[in-house]
Amino acid sequence: MNDLTQPFKRLPVALIGTGSYVPERRLTNSDLEKMVDTTNEWIVERTGIEERRIAAPDEKTSDMATNAARKAMEAAGARPGEIDLIIVATITPDPFTPSTACYVQANIGAVNAAAFDISAACSGFLYALKTAVQYIGCGQARTALIIASEKLSHIVNWEDRSTCVLFGDGAGAAVLRTGTGIEGDSAILASDIGADGTLTDILLVPGGGSAIPTTEENIHEKLYTVAMRGNELFRHAVQHMKDSALSLIKRTGIDPNDIALVVPHQANLRIINAVTARLGIPPEKVFVNLQKYGNTSGAACIIALDEALRAGRAKKGDIVLMVTFGAGLTWSSAAIRI
Ligand code: UT7
Repeated sequence: MNDLTQPFKRLPVALIGTGSYVPERRLTNSDLEKMVDTTNEWIVERTGIEERRIAAPDEKTSDMATNAARKAMEAAGARPGEIDLIIVATITPDPFTPSTACYVQANIGAVNAAAFDISAACSGFLYALKTAVQYIGCGQARTALIIASEKLSHIVNWEDRSTCVLFGDGAGAAVLRTGTGIEGDSAILASDIGADGTLTDILLVPGGGSAIPTTEENIHEKLYTVAMRGNELFRHAVQHMKDSALSLIKRTGIDPNDIALVVPHQANLRIINAVTARLGIPPEKVFVNLQKYGNTSGAACIIALDEALRAGRAKKGDIVLMVTFGAGLTWSSAAIRI
């Protein structure tokens, strides 16, 4: 879904602060070797992942989201009362209802904010970004807090070597704003979101919802855990991430040489290499941190962006390209001038 030509002047939207949080506990590949029939060599060679973080049993998705949000607000210099929109992208909400965003709203005291969750799996953060940009651009919000937070360890089948080595827990957040407080030319230049609902069965958590409600038998069969056809997904990921990024580059007229940094979804190093090679982006312009955190679904790209910015990998005025892919299937990309 592209930005349509609008009959009215849209307000510019800037990203004014980011934050991230990962739980303390590290689960290394050698730890996994003791749990399932796998090896460090297989995991590193096929994915690039070396370790991932696992939330404490009593650590909720909203707790991680709140930690990331506080850091983003601090970086942005945004006070709780100024935030008028909170969107949390998650597939592991605290309960199904109310939304995780409402828990975050209470935790940070953002009493003036509307709050809701969105579900777009690994594309969740950029879906949230595009949604918030529309609200702000249309004058319906001024300062938005967008967060992606996942406790995937809770929905992983720890006996399935084909999935349990891939995922980790964590959260990332960003503050978006229009009007005063925007420095220089900072702007969300463009964003793209898309989906193919004919391929829902490639990556899903089949049970626990209205289609396959929770029963003792379903729990026994682990239908509340991630099921994935990784090989097929891999091909779709490369194709859609490349297409989404290319369409964004074409639409904005950005010269690919002017992209200072690409921050992609952190699922698999081979996917990242294949996509960026097809885009003609050299490896030194690509930010990768999946070796430390594995795939944290929607949180992965914003944790990566936050780390990249804090490490000085992009400076004010630089153009950063983000591109993601996930269950749905869904995909998304965004061009951001920092
Ligand atoms: O975040 C949403 C988007 N996610 C993705 O895009 C993930 C996309 N997919 C992938 O990243 C890769 O497909 C995986 C990393 C999941 C798998 O890598 P692959 O190279 O596609 O492996 P495969 O599934 O084709 O499996 C190859 C072999 C199989 O054995 P056989 O049948 O060849 O004997 C698997 O049983 O590797 C075996 N295998 C493992 N071996 C050791 C699968 N998982 C493991 C494991 N350790 N953990």
